[in-house]
Amino acid sequence: MLSKSQARAFFLGGTIVTFAIFLGLSWTSLTKEVPKRTHEENITPEVIRGKVIWESNNCMGCHTILGEGAYYAPELTKVFERRGEAYIKAALMSKVPWAPRGRKMVAYGFSEKDANDVVSFLKWIGEIDLNGFPPKPDLKQ
Ligand code: HEC
Repeated sequence: MLSKSQARAFFLGGTIVTFAIFLGLSWTSLTKEVPKRTHEENITPEVIRGKVIWESNNCMGCHTILGEGAYYAPELTKVFERRGEAYIKAALMSKVPWAPRGRKMVAYGFSEKDANDVVSFLKWIGEIDLNGFPPKPDLKQ
């Protein structure tokens, strides 16, 4: 059995070693993994403007992105790959509510430039390495 001083040394040693590992892994995540997975170098001024438009128009009031937001409208993480640029621009620039499948979207009537910026943002989001999220639907054929 451990003596009191051995138990204390064991506790302190274990705590210090695991805390050092925790700090090391956090450091590599923040300085190496996140920039690599998000392709930080592709964040252009257009992508940033697209994000500002995304935030200021409350798109997350209806949509989810990276799994976050509301469940009224489609998940948009991979929308660039799924729908392509022309379709997304048509939804954003439409002067009447976009609703080919029944539920209505806000008729934003964006300018071409604003729509292009949102497309750049959605394209960048779609290229983030998310370990396979969102999963492909597991539907019976
Ligand atoms: C009032 C709820 C609402 C808001 C707010 C909203 N949308 Fe939508 N959006 C929808 C609905 C509902 C659809 C699906 C329409 C359909 O296919 O019939 C949609 C469709 C889309 C699509 C096509 C998705 C697909 O897979 O077909 C894109 C892209 C999109 N929205 C982007 C945006 C962006 C960007 C914003 C913010 C500027 C936004 N939406 C705000 C409700 C909303």
